[in-house]
Amino acid sequence: MLFVIGGNAQDRPTDFLSADFHKQRREAVRTMLPANSVAVFFANPVRNRSNDVDYVYHQDPDFYYLTGYREPNAVLIIFSDFQKDAAGKMYNEILYVQERNSNAEQWEGKRLGIVGAKEQLGFEMVFNGEAFLMNTIDFKSFDVVTFFDFKDDYRDTGGRADLFDLIRTFKIKTDYFSNYNSTKKELYTMIKSTDIANSANVAQVLGRYLNDDDDLKRDELLNAFVKAKNDGLRAEIKERVSVELKSYNFDTNVITEIMNKLRETKTPEEMVLLKKAVEISAVGQLEVMKAMHPNMSETEIQGVHEYVYKKYGAEYEGYPSIVGGGANGCILHYIENSKPKVGNDLVLMDLGAEYHGYTADVTRTIPANGTFTKEQRQIYDIVYRAQEAGIQASVVGASFQAPGDAAKKVIAKELMALGIINNEAEARTYFPHGTSHYLGLDVHDKGTYTAFKPNTVITVEPGIYIPEGSNCDEKWWGIAVRIEDDILITENGPVNLSAMAPRTADAIEKVMKQPSPLDKFVLPKLD
Ligand code: GLY
Ligand code: MN
Ligand code: MN
Repeated sequence: MLFVIGGNAQDRPTDFLSADFHKQRREAVRTMLPANSVAVFFANPVRNRSNDVDYVYHQDPDFYYLTGYREPNAVLIIFSDFQKDAAGKMYNEILYVQERNSNAEQWEGKRLGIVGAKEQLGFEMVFNGEAFLMNTIDFKSFDVVTFFDFKDDYRDTGGRADLFDLIRTFKIKTDYFSNYNSTKKELYTMIKSTDIANSANVAQVLGRYLNDDDDLKRDELLNAFVKAKNDGLRAEIKERVSVELKSYNFDTNVITEIMNKLRETKTPEEMVLLKKAVEISAVGQLEVMKAMHPNMSETEIQGVHEYVYKKYGAEYEGYPSIVGGGANGCILHYIENSKPKVGNDLVLMDLGAEYHGYTADVTRTIPANGTFTKEQRQIYDIVYRAQEAGIQASVVGASFQAPGDAAKKVIAKELMALGIINNEAEARTYFPHGTSHYLGLDVHDKGTYTAFKPNTVITVEPGIYIPEGSNCDEKWWGIAVRIEDDILITENGPVNLSAMAPRTADAIEKVMKQPSPLDKFVLPKLD
């Protein structure tokens, strides 16, 4: 019997987000939707690696957040209001899934199918994707159809009801046009709500938008409004814009704002998984500190971190691992990790385990031989003090920029004191990136990027990077340091979730003296 639902043909961990969690998140979306609207979410595409090998599938985080479904070729529909089917049954959401297929399942693994999605994910109304291609949802009857605009990075796999077919059907049913431009809709909306007495000013503002965007420049109505010589003409165009707007029931802003708001703050259930991802990653850093020696390659160091992740059951890395020895650390997202020996340099290691969807993002920079040189330590300590200032600034109500402002101030002042820069503005040369981002299902997670709220998780990650040939004393060249921790914002102040990874220069040197189980893991030499 092949189709065993809930059987143990494929044992899985049991600590995934619960069906209740996803249901409650969908309910939250529903309450934030405008009246008579519908939100449409598509699963991530399958991406081809080469020939008949695809990249490991990863669900779209919003889709995962709202469904728990981890397969491709699926659509989720959330209605703001109850709908009634032909048999009089009321429903306010539908999930379309991949249909079960014994041949595909023999090669690729079990599919949940309709029954599995009902039993395990708790949906009431589930159909195969095929039904979406034929279904009778009349998208034109809603005031707003909100969805994330298409990236056009999916391909026609030839499969029945694959993502390509699903999106094509949606576009046809909504009269979506390929040159849809959400800014255009915003500007039309702006014109529609303009008081004619103020329309000359609005036309001036619109003119600036048109200058920056060729697509908008070609739009007849926008152009006419900007060029109109008097209020009478503008009133006429306003009328035409209002008529035109009626065919624009689709929207990409409503859904964006809703998902940013929801995903910014984490529920207790999410925090269990996110904390686990962060702690696993911190343990990875700790174990690597013990195992590190100058003969290791960047690739091997990466492997030790990732082994620890797998040992704890983390499925993936949340983003490509970054392990840069010496000046390689100056490349902010260095993922080549190919240096054969790290030697006596500092090694910058920016990695994060992904555990059941939630990703960590932790960076430590350590001396490969176990001891910081004087110059390495001087730079390290500046970054440490900058990070401390940033963490202290991560409090409820502070602006999202607060940790960055605090960290930048420390770095500028201390780099000036060492004579590496001459004025504050030059600090950007050596600290060229932001200090914080939200963390969650995405490493650079969704959020409003406004004042801090309780139960949000951010990174605080200042750095100083001094490439060879920099305009300062040569003794600093090739030093690159980033320290990154994952901070939970609470009413009682910031909590460092990655504190298990030693962070001060002294603590790092101390841990690096400890033996590692890998000291005894010696493999045969190969020719
Ligand atoms: N690892 C990417 C970042 O730190 O933002
Ligand atoms: Mn980061
Ligand atoms: Mn990072």
